[in-house]
Amino acid sequence: MNQTISQAARLKGTVALPADKSIAHRAALFAALSDGRSIITNYPDSADPRSTLACLRQLGVEIDEDEPGILAVQGAGLEGLRKPKAPLDCGNSGTTMRLIAGILAGQSFATTLTGDASLSRRPMARIADPLRRMNAVVTLEDGHAPIKIAGGQQLQGIEYELPVPSAQVKSCVLLAGLYAEGETTVVETIPSRDHTERMLGLDIFEMGGARYLTVQQGRRIPARTWTVPRDFSAAAFLLVAGSIVPDGEVYLPGVGLNPSRSALLDVLRVMGADFKVEYEREEGGEPLADLKVRPAALHGVSVSGALIPNLIDEIPVLAVAAACAEGRTEIRDAAELRVKETDRIDAMVKNLRALGTDVEEFEDGLAITGGKPLTGATVDSFDDHRIAMATGVAALAASGKTTITNAEVARVSFPGFWEVLERLSKGE
Ligand code: S3P
Repeated sequence: MNQTISQAARLKGTVALPADKSIAHRAALFAALSDGRSIITNYPDSADPRSTLACLRQLGVEIDEDEPGILAVQGAGLEGLRKPKAPLDCGNSGTTMRLIAGILAGQSFATTLTGDASLSRRPMARIADPLRRMNAVVTLEDGHAPIKIAGGQQLQGIEYELPVPSAQVKSCVLLAGLYAEGETTVVETIPSRDHTERMLGLDIFEMGGARYLTVQQGRRIPARTWTVPRDFSAAAFLLVAGSIVPDGEVYLPGVGLNPSRSALLDVLRVMGADFKVEYEREEGGEPLADLKVRPAALHGVSVSGALIPNLIDEIPVLAVAAACAEGRTEIRDAAELRVKETDRIDAMVKNLRALGTDVEEFEDGLAITGGKPLTGATVDSFDDHRIAMATGVAALAASGKTTITNAEVARVSFPGFWEVLERLSKGE
């Protein structure tokens, strides 16, 4: 599908954002492994969290959804999953594949995990390595999916220092740790999103600047009610859109503001963005607030180091803010972007250049000289939801019309995104 977007003079309205993808995956997985019936409210309709549900159903977990977004999950307990009849298709979802692999390594039966073309290009040795150290038998194809997990091995607890700051790898190892003899500890020297340890209530120790997360074999997961907050990573697109379009106000109620996810707010504040964080509260152990954003004159900023994992998914749209900001923005230490749903450095360099921005590319990031007027063009989504949406936001500030090809991919995390942009630009 092609999506054509016109330059917008004003963005006005309220948006009920989709629920948080990272938290939704985990709520579904933890409910499936719990002892008893859990309820998950506000489960998103986005394709990625739906891939997790499909895999869990193939593993014999009963999940009812009598009302859209309200799931009743009958927990199978740690030992109650059943051998699936076919390979588990994780679609486009790296979180589904990497987290479920940790659980499957501890089962008595063999499984195969597959994904779409993009997921089949993403690195999986980063989970196979620690799982093998735990005694799992894992086979990859040249470092990639399909992933074959033999099952039937008694896993052993390990201490594992993450070579890359990755919440997916961390979570994979901790989930395998539920099945591993003794204790499994993951050591993080650069913190990544902390939903798994928060939601499982794991022991966390800090020493010498590192975080030690520990799980014991057989740790039970109680059944409970999970409420999934609205996705900060989805809010990011509208925070930038509301900043760069010259008039209006965008209101985003109930957005998750977990500090390991919300560094974009700090960066936008430094860039001069005009937003308010109102009615800060906590729901289900996660902080949330209502956000209100108005247009502002932005200026360039440098972003690198330990901040990067806390805004890794927001960098494509941060690059758009930078294109509309006066001066130079440099984003470094972000080589992980090259192994996301697409090479996001390459994709944003191409799309921003196509719209007329001066961009310099580095192996681990990009530098943008902002402030030059953007001009509409035809660009591609690179089959990546965040590239599609970030480019869509840039299009709001580009003269004339911009067409994004393969734009339907936005539904991976934000179904209805294009309709939201259209509604906001009409000021409804
Ligand atoms: C996620 C972790 C991050 C992030 C992804 C979701 C998660 O990936 O980019 O969108 O839910 O754990 P990495 O673990 O590869 O950094």
